[in-house]
Amino acid sequence: MRYLSIVSALFFLLPVSAQMPSLQRTGKVTHLMVEGKPFLMIGGELHNSTSSSIDYMEKLDIWGTIEKAHYNTVIASASWELVEPEEGRFNFKQVDYLIKNARERNLKLVLIWFASWKNGASTYVPGWVKRNPKTYRYVQNSKGETLNVISPVLNETAMKSDANAFARLMQHIRETDPDHTVIMMQVENEVGVLTSVRDFSPEAQKSWKSDVPADLIAYLQSHKGKLFPELEKVWAANGYKTKGNWETIFGVSTTNTDNWQAYPFYSEELFMAYHYAKYIGTVAAMGKKEKTLPMYCNAWLKQPSGGYPGKFPSGGPLPEVLDVWRAAAPSVDFLAPDIYTDEFDYTLKQFSLGNNPFLILESTFEISKELYAIGEYDVLGFCPFGIDVNGGDFSMAATDDNTLDNLYQGNALLKQMDQLILAQYGSENLRGIYVDEVNPKMQLELGDYLLDFSLATSGTGTTQNDGTGAGFRKSRKNGGALILRAGPESLYIVGKDIRIAYKLKDPKTGQYAATESVEEGTFVNNQWVPGRRINGDETYFVSFSDVKAVKVVLYKAPFENRMLF
Ligand code: DGJ
Repeated sequence: MRYLSIVSALFFLLPVSAQMPSLQRTGKVTHLMVEGKPFLMIGGELHNSTSSSIDYMEKLDIWGTIEKAHYNTVIASASWELVEPEEGRFNFKQVDYLIKNARERNLKLVLIWFASWKNGASTYVPGWVKRNPKTYRYVQNSKGETLNVISPVLNETAMKSDANAFARLMQHIRETDPDHTVIMMQVENEVGVLTSVRDFSPEAQKSWKSDVPADLIAYLQSHKGKLFPELEKVWAANGYKTKGNWETIFGVSTTNTDNWQAYPFYSEELFMAYHYAKYIGTVAAMGKKEKTLPMYCNAWLKQPSGGYPGKFPSGGPLPEVLDVWRAAAPSVDFLAPDIYTDEFDYTLKQFSLGNNPFLILESTFEISKELYAIGEYDVLGFCPFGIDVNGGDFSMAATDDNTLDNLYQGNALLKQMDQLILAQYGSENLRGIYVDEVNPKMQLELGDYLLDFSLATSGTGTTQNDGTGAGFRKSRKNGGALILRAGPESLYIVGKDIRIAYKLKDPKTGQYAATESVEEGTFVNNQWVPGRRINGDETYFVSFSDVKAVKVVLYKAPFENRMLF
């Protein structure tokens, strides 16, 4: 006890810049701590290939775009093929360039380790790995065909090579980044087997027929009753057995793939998840020995266009296998969704199960979604993908709805009110609203008042790359808001494409909800700075088209606040 308090006192004496970024959990809330205080990541991810060339980044003035867009964090890749082009020879030129430029601009950096897997495939491994498929061993499908996916199943050679390179990267970061410009690491990218429900190679077949490993069984036993519902269900249905192979413990999977929210081929998915987690958990642990930055894995989602393993990468870090990842990869701190689907709220709900703190590491450029995720799900941050919008074929650039301008304006606002927001994580004083063409209304109870939000847009929806290789499509038109209560009757609202009507919760009081004042404004260093005062018929509803911040003070009037005629 005494020792602990001395240690924590020393920690607080460290200069803030020397404090290691970390995840800190208090009650139900997890904060990402940066420079000794909670950090809200208003981030953006570069296209995959951008950070491979310094000249390219300079020519396109990528840093200029980042600054114009008001991000506070850049997410960029560091690939195994460039970090270790020849076995045992390391090159950190690109990494150094990223750190230097981010630091000079007071930006934070998240590095993505594109290594054994990227979108399921093993495309970013160095040439000396690519040319040695026998040594590094690849996944086979049920027909015995080899896929471009390094097998995660008991593949010591590949795992050690990957982990060794990652550890060298982390060592380099420890040595060259003492003030922690790099705040977090993504280990691999959207892993899992595509086009096959699992690995059928001889080694994998043997493992599939062997007993479920003891560490997973021990985890199941100690978390019985608290597991992901489907996992609890299949384990219970098979008699909570603690010895036997994957089909003995979890059953022979159902194979009906009609319902994208069901769990066909679940035993196969659990099997692959265990092996990916074991492999990646080792890579992350080796890296953490060098520097203990928070580390996470990101997921290609189960979604209507791909609802079963093989259609989405089987074994990837999805909510239904969170328990398996936790059991096999304790050094991976959380699982993060890459959200390109309209099933936005469903995805957020799933990823928050099991107290998984999460970050939206890839998304479309939609500020409505960002406001909702921060306001309602206390996310660590929100990061659209492909922020260097001249990104060529894979550009995610939105082409309508003033999407980029709104995102940039929203980023600027959120950055200036970050501590106000973070201080309310876990409390009812912070809420989020998200409405779209399918669910255009939402109601919020705030003390004695009811606020009715509805979608109000003249826009046409956002054109986006759907992130699964299927190409561009229109997302649903949507609107959103973040609501921060400042007192029993006053609130700040940051919103877009939304209209708000207000009334008293109890209709029998003889009184009516009315606005005492409505101000547009902005935040500077977490202080409200009022701008235009809105009044009269502009306040019978409070409306947002382009993103803006408004302070509303409500009161109970003996009359209705409406046009007199
Ligand atoms: C999801 C991947 O995780 C990203 O790296 C990127 O390739 C996008 N898809 C492109 O759509």
